[in-house]
Amino acid sequence: MKPNTIRVGIIGTGNRGITCIGRQIAAQASELNITITALCNRTQKRMEVALGDLNEAAKAADNPPFTPTFYSDPKNLINDDQVDLIVITTATASHLEAAIPAILSGKKVYLDKPIAHTIEDSVAIREAEAQADNPIIMGFTRRYEKPWTDLHALIKSGVIGDLKMMLIRAVLPYSFYFQTWHRTRALSGGALNDKGSHYTDVFNWFAGNTRCLQTNAFGGRNVFKQRDDAPEFCSECDDQSCAYRAEQARPDTQDQHRGAVDDAISANADASQRKDNCVYKKGADILDHASIHYQYDNGIVASIFYSIYGPQAEDEETLELVGTQGRIILTRLKGEIDVITDYGEKSHQVIHCKAEAFETSHFGADRQLVQDIAAFARGSQSVVNGWFGMEATRMAIAAIQSIDQGGQTIRMSDLADSSA
Ligand SMILES: NC(=O)c1ccc[n+]([C@@H]2O[C@H](COP(=O)([O-])OP(=O)(O)OC[C@H]3O[C@@H](n4cnc5c(N)ncnc54)[C@H](O)[C@@H]3O)[C@@H](O)[C@H]2O)c1
Repeated sequence: MKPNTIRVGIIGTGNRGITCIGRQIAAQASELNITITALCNRTQKRMEVALGDLNEAAKAADNPPFTPTFYSDPKNLINDDQVDLIVITTATASHLEAAIPAILSGKKVYLDKPIAHTIEDSVAIREAEAQADNPIIMGFTRRYEKPWTDLHALIKSGVIGDLKMMLIRAVLPYSFYFQTWHRTRALSGGALNDKGSHYTDVFNWFAGNTRCLQTNAFGGRNVFKQRDDAPEFCSECDDQSCAYRAEQARPDTQDQHRGAVDDAISANADASQRKDNCVYKKGADILDHASIHYQYDNGIVASIFYSIYGPQAEDEETLELVGTQGRIILTRLKGEIDVITDYGEKSHQVIHCKAEAFETSHFGADRQLVQDIAAFARGSQSVVNGWFGMEATRMAIAAIQSIDQGGQTIRMSDLADSSA
């Protein structure tokens, strides 16, 4: 190993930890002087599959294979003196269990979003971060995605005047949320926490030095309604015409959730760990659509127009920003920003700003994220810390609470919060 190599330990060797982040570490290991020295998962089999994937990616990039130590208990990986940077990519309800000891160890910590499945866990993780004075770096992918960072710089330069309104339109083909552990709030905090926390974080990032005051929201379940005749798993079902069969998942998906199916799809004794639960079977308590409104204390308003039964489409996710002198629309899948400035009098421009590796996971964001976590491990500032993680989940769960209460306004000051 070269001097000053960053030694990474990954806790949670599933889709996110391996397909997105681990593979990008493998692809950039020599350039970034980074390696993987430990893996931790509940099941040995999953680590073996993960190591195979990692070493395939390393080989493709002409990098040497990894020979990590395997752990089943996160604490043992955290205490391994061959680990400098701890990457936590377990299912969301298990974040706290690894995050708090990792933060308190004083090592560098990457924690994926959402920070947790409840407001209480979110606050506890943020409190640990503040008390240990050990800022973590979080996985809000859009913070690492070129069109979004370019757009943020444009807004700060004042091209549309003062920012006043934000809208994220997310009409997504994300039926997998009803097939995996995401299907219960107890494990994910809800699909709106899983996906919506990206969006509330974008709002907080763009809104700048202000805080969300209140929210109200409407939503529910339109498509993935419980059916009494639903089978347990797609593998037990003969209905080849079902649009939501796990096997019919998009092979070309950028998010690649549907890719990590190996033994988990058909052999796991714990149904919540499988990825082929029937979308219509009982037990799911998450929502499949919502219309959400937020108000900030400086008057900015922001909305999320959200469904997870959308078709595949190039405009499935857009961000629209309205300022006092113009408006901007970012279309994620096109890597494109459409800008109208000067009150529409002089300028209408379309800026093509795809990242260099746009075809890789999260439109090139995971490649950039690994570069940023390597810099973070060497002492650079965190791109996005645990306070933002906590606030994003407080806002997402506040919206779910509003929906549960028939659209009642939820004041953020009534929810648990960190004193730091
Ligand atoms: N930043 C992003 O854009 C993005 C994208 C996908 C997922 N995620 C997040 O990454 C996390 C993981 O999601 P995923 O899609 O990889 O799920 P996954 O089910 O594919 O992988 C999670 C893994 O964690 C393991 N695990 C669970 N609890 C554990 C524990 N206590 N100790 C050790 N291992 C444990 C599971 O066995 C599984 O292998 C979630 O929080 C999710 O929201 C973020």
